[in-house]
Amino acid sequence: MFIKKNWSVPKGQAPTEMDKIILRFQKDGYLVPKRKLIKTPEQIEGIRKSGVVNTALLDMVANEIKEGMTTGELDRLIHQFTLDHGAIPAPLNYEGYPKSSCISIDNVVCHGIPDDKTYFQPGQIVNVDCTTILNGYFADASRMFIIGGETTPEKQRLVDVTMECLQIGMQEAKPYRFVGDIGFAIQCHAQKNGYSVVRELCGHGVGVEFHEEPEVTHYGKPKTGMLLVPGMVFTIEPMINMGKKEVHFSREDGWTVTTRDGMPSAQWEHTFLMTETGLEILTH
Ligand code: MF3
Ligand code: CO
Ligand code: CO
Repeated sequence: MFIKKNWSVPKGQAPTEMDKIILRFQKDGYLVPKRKLIKTPEQIEGIRKSGVVNTALLDMVANEIKEGMTTGELDRLIHQFTLDHGAIPAPLNYEGYPKSSCISIDNVVCHGIPDDKTYFQPGQIVNVDCTTILNGYFADASRMFIIGGETTPEKQRLVDVTMECLQIGMQEAKPYRFVGDIGFAIQCHAQKNGYSVVRELCGHGVGVEFHEEPEVTHYGKPKTGMLLVPGMVFTIEPMINMGKKEVHFSREDGWTVTTRDGMPSAQWEHTFLMTETGLEILTH
């Protein structure tokens, strides 16, 4: 397979230590990032600030989400809170998406569109996914919420193991390891627990745009995929199914993704900065 030579040292410049390491991986046939995926200190500051708003937003959601509320009502709160904090909700009008957040209940894997007829009910497991743009910088995160605070032991375990998948994936992400190391660890943990990993949707580079390179798959093999380099910013956002991995894309609304077998699915997402030592969460 042909692997793009993404890295080069600008003309007339001496290669830094980092350049030398990356060029070595490139020479050995590994996929390395383009230079523009390495964020500048200024960009990192911008994304960090956007992350602060995103976290406050999801904290607000945690306080407001309740039985009897519609998904549309919660979306309007998200929209208003985002604007009140000087930010823009990235989903709105993104490739024609009609709302300011994604709200995905039980068997909905992701991209559930808020509306005025879907009421939160006790025991539902709900993913709320928000992306904020502050001064042009993107931060993307989602959390699971349990309506009424209690659900079945089976759904509770799915929610918990999915969070563990994200944490285990995070721990694998070290400088000069690979995207595939993250996916491999997540896939192992999910399958060990009897669950499956959704393949069609991935984490992604983020920060200057909504979806950048690399594609962060939540399955895979060690030492495959893109090299992880300090200064990269990306999400990890495993979608874990209680049953089979296959999903269905709605032909009706063009967005909603559901499990084929109708069983529940869970997801947690953070935006991360790769530092010299490992990941820093920008959406805490
Ligand atoms: N926030 C989602 C993600 O984690 C993307 C949603 S796209 C939208 O990448 F248009 F549905 F909002
Ligand atoms: Co994302
Ligand atoms: Co998201």
